[in-house]
Amino acid sequence: MFNAAVLTVSDRCFRGERPDSAGPLVAELLKDAGYQVVQTAIVPDEQPRIEQILREIAGAGSVQLLLTTGGTGFSPRDVTPEATLAVCTRLTPGIPEAMRRASMGVTNRAMLSRAQAGIRHGTLIVNLPGSPKAARENLEAVLPALAHGLEMLSGRPADCAAESSAE
Ligand code: MTE
Repeated sequence: MFNAAVLTVSDRCFRGERPDSAGPLVAELLKDAGYQVVQTAIVPDEQPRIEQILREIAGAGSVQLLLTTGGTGFSPRDVTPEATLAVCTRLTPGIPEAMRRASMGVTNRAMLSRAQAGIRHGTLIVNLPGSPKAARENLEAVLPALAHGLEMLSGRPADCAAESSAE
């Protein structure tokens, strides 16, 4: 079983002006997929704060999958992708490519997501959009394939030839 963390990036949720609905939804989807959600947090849309908590969670070494929700759009305060790029040492562009490809079948506004994904230490960080609907649609597009990547990341032998058609 892999450990996961969910980081909600939102000024309004951080200030308590709006309930965080996307974060708990993402955590539920992860639990349903067999992940243990060991940490959740809310931070404002401030790049240093986002970078700091991404570094903390990845640096602790106990979380294999770290999902963020929010801050991937075009608003001047949407800086989650920049924070993610700043902390990752290796990028995994196929993950946001797959999310956007799947999401374009739902709405052409999917192209407006600037979500990134990458690796810091042994943690895979993936950005999701902020609305619960969009977060779910994006996560469901990639979640079935992520465990195989996490197996490789953790150094466990992963048989790439034993491909599951369900993924
Ligand atoms: N992807 C899916 N699957 N469904 C959606 O409704 N909304 C888009 C996009 N991706 C959407 C989506 C919109 S309108 C925006 S602005 C971006 O995600 C970024 O969202 P964020 O700023 O909440 O992170």
